Amino acid sequence: MTTSPTRRRLLQGAGVLTLVVAGGAVWRAHDRGVFAEPSGAAYDPWEMWNAPEYEGTPLALVAAGILASNPHNTQPWVFRVSDTEIEVLADTSRHLGSFDPYLREMHVGLGCAVENMALAAPANGFTVEVESAPGTLTAIERGGLVRAAALRLSPSSAAADPLYEAIPKRHTNRYPYDLARGFPEEMLRGFAAMPADENVALSLFTEGKGYEALGRAIIDATDEIVADHAMIEDSHAWFRDGPDEMARERSGLELDTAGLSPALLAAAKFLPALPAEQSHAAWADQTRDTHVPTAALLGLISVRDRYDRPQSLAAGRLWQRLHLSASAAGIAMHPLNQPVETIDRERQLEMEAKSEARLAEIVNNPDWQPTFCFRGGLPTREAPASARRSVETVAEKV
Ligand SMILES: Cc1cc2nc3c(=O)[nH]c(=O)nc-3n(C[C@H](O)[C@H](O)[C@H](O)COP(=O)(O)O)c2cc1C
Repeated sequence: MTTSPTRRRLLQGAGVLTLVVAGGAVWRAHDRGVFAEPSGAAYDPWEMWNAPEYEGTPLALVAAGILASNPHNTQPWVFRVSDTEIEVLADTSRHLGSFDPYLREMHVGLGCAVENMALAAPANGFTVEVESAPGTLTAIERGGLVRAAALRLSPSSAAADPLYEAIPKRHTNRYPYDLARGFPEEMLRGFAAMPADENVALSLFTEGKGYEALGRAIIDATDEIVADHAMIEDSHAWFRDGPDEMARERSGLELDTAGLSPALLAAAKFLPALPAEQSHAAWADQTRDTHVPTAALLGLISVRDRYDRPQSLAAGRLWQRLHLSASAAGIAMHPLNQPVETIDRERQLEMEAKSEARLAEIVNNPDWQPTFCFRGGLPTREAPASARRSVETVAEKV
């Protein structure tokens, strides 16, 4: 069969077009890191946490502090470092808007950083005395740097805390958990013995009414957040669109840590970023279909006053310890703090305190106000590390 010159040109054109489209797809896939694990300088802090250049200096504590759990990976911190003191400052410009209107979550995250720093102290020849800044979150000044705590350093030869080694192993795990394997009894007993601060309490549920009600509260609060346009836009502002943006910002949330299946992750990375409504609707689906139903453990950290600054820090310190001890034992953990985020939001909008009532019924003790919810279980997949800004970016020498 002979092919006419016109038909040949058309076929050649189609071939070139296919190549261009396929080449473009490969290029885009490469550009968006579709087949790659997150890598590059933004993840180096996970290797540098005990680097020889920091060892035995206050910067070693900062290198551990920046690996802490923190809301939406905003890393809302600056560290002012001298030979005898590290001042931990809330960078209130790195906020979540209506998602955290009182900077409560910001302060819980700062508490997580303080705990990592306290754990890194003995390993680097220091003891620390932590002094939290007093006062209430409702009176805090916005926009700049606000002192949250001071860590006074003195020389020590105390042995390192066993949780210190778990610092680089701790990652938020948003994958399904293996519910059939339950939650190890011994770890539950260890958790229950952990609250060390008289203003912090822990509630743990593996079954029964409390477990069911907390699971329901998490799902319902997620749906309420998804219906709140301002909240999801403020949350979305911290979603990073691909590896280039993450390499620039080194903070915020990325698809690789979202707990998606490999096929869904590849598709999501390849396609243009979803708008806030769609990405948050997908998050609500994940919460309802995966996060809550596969949780072997649901837990609550409560304080006596949710808007007290030192108590928010103390709650964060406890969460960090819980997550580190789970990570050391290969157990997965994941904050699911939506039911407290809606408490703040209802208070800000002077709405009926439905969310407050929902959690109060579970805690069933008016002396305690929940400030943090989470799940735990045996992992089905390892969680990846999230990006971090460097020690040099967030530490100021004085
Ligand atoms: C106060 C606070 C609230 C959080 N709330 C949630 C949450 O509701 N859902 C979630 O998936 N992760 C939540 N996280 C986890 C952070 O997103 C996570 O710590 C951060 O992205 C850094 O990742 P990493 O923990 O893997 O280092 C929360 C963390 C803190 C400290």
